[in-house]
Amino acid sequence: MNTVFADGNPQAQVMLIGEAPGEDEDRQGKPFVGVSGKLLDRMLAQIGLDRSTVYISNILPWRPPGNRSPTQAEIAACLPFLERHVELVQPKLLVALGGVSAKTLLNRAEGITRLRGQWRSYEVTGKSVPLMPMLHPAYLLRNPIAKREAWRDMLALQQKIAEDGTK
Ligand code: URA
Repeated sequence: MNTVFADGNPQAQVMLIGEAPGEDEDRQGKPFVGVSGKLLDRMLAQIGLDRSTVYISNILPWRPPGNRSPTQAEIAACLPFLERHVELVQPKLLVALGGVSAKTLLNRAEGITRLRGQWRSYEVTGKSVPLMPMLHPAYLLRNPIAKREAWRDMLALQQKIAEDGTK
């Protein structure tokens, strides 16, 4: 129904990138407004962030039919637009939410459980932006035990924001 471009503050220093809109996002035209989004908002609130202090987008701006995973062709078609988006927003820190986002942005084959928990780098026009891969909120809803790891990653984000004086 809708192109889901972004939500939050485009001047924010922290940019979060998810996978693709779901049904609620497609209907409202905004990323992370469904149940995963509610959890994401609560996670952000724990470290003093909200949609006025972060900027949120997705790898794909359109909902894959029936919530299937995006295909490689779809990701490849949308990636140049996301790259330009990041280049224009110039975030100080990036968060990749879930495996599709982390693998795409880091150009790595490993899954999110291997990639998460460590600061990595996203290269954009000769600049390197620190990127933290995190478990996707939808995954956390299905596997609440993994919230432990997610909490560690949120604290790492909070610490990095404090160190760099970003927000
Ligand atoms: N899941 C995502 O990856 N992105 C959204 O915008 C909503 C759910």
